[in-house]
Amino acid sequence: MATSWSPESWRAQPICQVPDYPDAGKLAEAERELKHFPPLVFAGEARRLKRRLAQVSEGKAFLLQGGDCAESFAEFHPNNIRDTFRVLLQMAVVLTFGAAMPVVKVGRLAGQFAKPRSAPTETIDGVTLPAYRGDMINGMEFTEAARIPDPNRMLQAYNQSAATLNLIRAFAQGGYADLHQVHLWNLGFVADSPLGHRYRDLADRLDETLQFMAACGLTSETTPQIRETEFFTSHEALLLNYEEALTRVDHTTGDWYDTAAHMLWIGDRTRQPDGAHVEFLRGVKNPIGVKVGPTLPAEELLRLIDRLNPLNEPGRLTLIIRMGAEALAEHLPPLVRAIVRAGRSVVWVSDPMHANTVKSSTGFKTRHFNRILDEVRTFFAIHEAEGTYAGGVHFEMTGQDVTECVGGAQAITEANLSDRYHTHCDPRLNASQALELAFLLAETLKEGRLRERGRTGSLLPAA
Ligand code: PEP
Ligand code: CO
Repeated sequence: MATSWSPESWRAQPICQVPDYPDAGKLAEAERELKHFPPLVFAGEARRLKRRLAQVSEGKAFLLQGGDCAESFAEFHPNNIRDTFRVLLQMAVVLTFGAAMPVVKVGRLAGQFAKPRSAPTETIDGVTLPAYRGDMINGMEFTEAARIPDPNRMLQAYNQSAATLNLIRAFAQGGYADLHQVHLWNLGFVADSPLGHRYRDLADRLDETLQFMAACGLTSETTPQIRETEFFTSHEALLLNYEEALTRVDHTTGDWYDTAAHMLWIGDRTRQPDGAHVEFLRGVKNPIGVKVGPTLPAEELLRLIDRLNPLNEPGRLTLIIRMGAEALAEHLPPLVRAIVRAGRSVVWVSDPMHANTVKSSTGFKTRHFNRILDEVRTFFAIHEAEGTYAGGVHFEMTGQDVTECVGGAQAITEANLSDRYHTHCDPRLNASQALELAFLLAETLKEGRLRERGRTGSLLPAA
C-alpha cells in the first residue's frame, strides 16, 4: 500500500458501498465544480474541535453527537434545522448539569446525506431496483429514474449544507442559544411530560443554579458563555468524491483538511484497514470517528488505530461503539483492555441506535426506547468497571414530533408508528424521546460522580 497520501489516493484502494454512476464525464464535471466552491468549515475550527475532544479523552468533557440518520432534500426547512438544534441544546444543558463538565456539541447535519446499505438492490413486488443511497446520491422514490445515481445531487447537498450551517452559526452566536432560554424550554418539557415529576428535581436545581449565577453577576449581558454556544458539524465520510472535492490545504499549517465538516466518521461497513475510506481519512487532519460493531476484533482495531492516528494524538480519534447491550458486555471489555494495554488515546462514545433496529409487527423499521437506554447504561457500566472514561453519546434524533421509535414517556406503540413516520433511513428519536433520554442519562452520570466522590472525596471531575 502507498504510504504517500493525497486527496485522491483513496481511488487506488478497494472500495465498498460505492454508487454506480452511469456517466463518468458528468461525475467528473460535478467534482470539478465542487472543487471551486468555498469551504464549509475552517481548519482552525476543526482544530478547536480536536482540542475539545482531547479534553473528552482525558475525562474532562462529554461529547453529545446527534441528528438525522439521513438529511434529505424534502425535509429541508428552517424550522426543522431550528428544532433539531434546539433539542441538541436542551440535551446538552441537562447533560452538562448531570456530568458537571462541558458538553461538546456535534450535529449529524450539514452534510449527512450519503448512506451505506446492507444490500445494493431493493425488491418490491417482484421489481428490483438499485438501493436508495441517500439524497446526495439518488432518489428515495421506488422508480428506475430516481434510483440512478446523479452526480449533480452532490451540488445540491453542498448548497443545502451551506445554508444549514449558515443558519446554525446564526443560532449559535445570535442569542437563540441563550442558556436561560434553553432552560425555559426544558421547564416546558418537564411541565408537559407524563413523567415530568421524575425530571422536576433536576430542572429545579438548574433553576436555582442560574439564579445563583445571576446573583453573582453572571448573566447573558455580562457573560458570552451564557449567551452563545459552540457547535460543530459531522457526517459519515462515505461518498469520497464529495469529500475529496472539499478537501483543501490549510495555509496556516500546510495540512490537508476535509472542509465539508468539522468531524468525519467511517461507517461500520467501510472501515477495512486497507480500504478506500480509511485511506482517505488517514490523510486529513480533522478529528475523525470510526463506528465499531461487534465483528471488529481487537487486533484489527489496533491496526486501524495505527493507520488513523499513528502519532497517538489525543482528540484525533473517536471510537463510536454500536453493538447492542448484550454484545457490548461480551465484546467491549476486550477492546477497552487492548487499547489501554497499547497506550492508545481514544474517545469512547456509545451509539445505542444502530444495533437496536428491529422490524415492527406493522412492517416499520423501529427502535425501542428502553433498548437504547439499556445499551448506553451498559456502556457506562463497562467503562466504570474497566476504569476508563465513557466520553459521550451518539444519537439519531430529530426536533420533530415524529413516531419512528417506540416507547418513552409518550408511550409510542407499534400501532402509532404510521402516524408520523418520516425518516429517509433509520428511525429517529423524536424531540421528547431525545430529551427524556438526556434526563435519564444525566441521572446516570450524576450517580457515577457520586460513586467517584465516594472514592476521591470530590464531586467535581478530576482537574
Ligand atoms: C449511521 O450512523 O447512520 C450508520 C449507518 O451507522 P453504522 O455505520 O454504525 O451502521
Ligand atoms: Co442510521
